[in-house]
Amino acid sequence: MRPMLETVPAASRVSALCVACCRQFVRAIRSNASTRWRIAAAGVFAGVGCMLASAGAVADASGGDPNLAQARQLTDQFARSLKQELKTALKKGGAANAIEACHLKAPDIATDLSDASRWEVRRTSLKVRNLEDAPDKWEAAVLERFEKQNAAGADDDEMEYSEIVAGKNGGRVFRYMKAITTQRICLKCHGEKIDAGVRKQLDSLYPFDQATGFTEDDLRGAFSLSKRVE
Ligand code: HEC
Repeated sequence: MRPMLETVPAASRVSALCVACCRQFVRAIRSNASTRWRIAAAGVFAGVGCMLASAGAVADASGGDPNLAQARQLTDQFARSLKQELKTALKKGGAANAIEACHLKAPDIATDLSDASRWEVRRTSLKVRNLEDAPDKWEAAVLERFEKQNAAGADDDEMEYSEIVAGKNGGRVFRYMKAITTQRICLKCHGEKIDAGVRKQLDSLYPFDQATGFTEDDLRGAFSLSKRVE
């Protein structure tokens, strides 16, 4: 494993707009939207020039590594979308109801981003709630590394890692991970004291849930992204 490149400033606004518009486009196609809406979405999609153009726009900020720039930009977009969904769901019906929204929306957001970008975008953890998020060997090793960094007091931005590895079916794959630490808002569903209503919901949806007992600033998990490279 080689060490990460230096941390760079957040991705440009152009890039964020691109990812957002890619997502809208995929959603429009998926959701039987009216023809007018689809045409409008396609126009915006083409107009903004999408991911490829945006990768060029931020490449310089990542020491000339466009894969790293794209990974950071997608992670940023993924994190913001998840947080927005969580906040809206909590406001609407409290933690017990928000679980249903997380259950349905979190995988959906990851799939949308993956479809729009040709990357695989997911979350993982050493203690998962959704078994689909269980880490592979490479992810588990990086998570262990983040655990050590976090215990040593590292900032969130320092806990990222990238590497080019051999693909399962040949070829090479660029892999990237960025740590997710626990904030106060997370404790309702991942903390030590879980409300009875929340526990009931969790038990019914996730009978093998391991993702409780966290305290603030613990390593909760990580974003994990990968893409085939030539
Ligand atoms: C309303 C309850 C709720 C809150 C609050 C909440 N989560 Fe979750 N979290 C969930 C549910 C439900 C899942 C499983 C989603 C799925 O099925 O994909 C999950 C999954 C995750 C995962 C994916 C790994 C896994 O265990 O499957 C991470 C990482 C995560 N949450 C981090 C956080 C962080 C960080 C916060 C605070 C910013 C947070 N969560 C707040 C309910 C919540």
